[in-house]
Amino acid sequence: MRSINDIRDLTVDEINELIRLACDIIDHPEKYSEKCRGKKLATLFFEPSTRTRLSFEAAMYELGGNVLGFSEAQSSSAAKGESVADTARTVGCYADIIAMRHPKEGAPFVASQHAGVPVINAGDGGHNHPTQTLADLLTIYREKGGFENLTVGLCGDLKFGRTVHSLINALARYSNVRFVLISPEELKVPSYVKKDVIQKNGLPYVQTTDLEAAIPELDILYMTRVQRERFFNEEDYLRLKDSYILDPKKLVDAKEDLCIMHPLPRVNEISVAIDKDPRACYFKQVLNGKYMRMALMLKLLELA
Ligand code: NCD
Repeated sequence: MRSINDIRDLTVDEINELIRLACDIIDHPEKYSEKCRGKKLATLFFEPSTRTRLSFEAAMYELGGNVLGFSEAQSSSAAKGESVADTARTVGCYADIIAMRHPKEGAPFVASQHAGVPVINAGDGGHNHPTQTLADLLTIYREKGGFENLTVGLCGDLKFGRTVHSLINALARYSNVRFVLISPEELKVPSYVKKDVIQKNGLPYVQTTDLEAAIPELDILYMTRVQRERFFNEEDYLRLKDSYILDPKKLVDAKEDLCIMHPLPRVNEISVAIDKDPRACYFKQVLNGKYMRMALMLKLLELA
């Protein structure tokens, strides 16, 4: 039984296979509509979510399976003081696979040690978010045809943004990827990402605070929300929250085939005026996330 805590728990070949499978699901959904008949997914969400939880649930329903779970810690026995290990062991008695989101880094890993069924990390604190990365990778694949030779700009809260950490880990394994890390000084990527992933792999990168100056060279622009819930004080959040707001003026010198991404939810980072620009890909990411979660659950349940 296999769990996914980190995007690196999947090899590059396995990721490519999941992308192929997701594309086949998109083209032939009827082939997959009964694959999980009799299977149950438990969604254990100790933190707020719209897309991740609902796409996991939609994915399981579209595979013919069922869903149980909770969407806030307060409605589970965690509110009575139960440990993650005991909750996981309990839910493993009821479900065939678990998707867990938790504010504590490493909580889904702990769950995977006790559940007895596969556990998928659906976001752990400011650490990782591997299934958002699968959604991001399918989007990049469908827009760009692959992952090589890309200049990828990551903008916003690179310190607490778990989607950024997982995406860097994933793209670092492809060749000739160049990163432009755009953030305020206080929200730079943590050193366990910069030193242990980017520098260790010898990947070219620049760090800057200037979004506008960086835009013309980018193939991908990945905007992120300032992660209010990870801040120690509201004052710092208020000072930093609108550091970057992408609007049509800033795109004047952007490439014609720029791919604008955002894991969502957006607050102010992308003006709604950009939504109708053909380069806006963030709602494509939303849909791609469901297909990649279908593919991942089929793999972990050994049904594909
Ligand atoms: C992200 C998350 O939860 O990390 N959302 C998501 O899952 N699509 C990004 C965010 O909350 O800013």
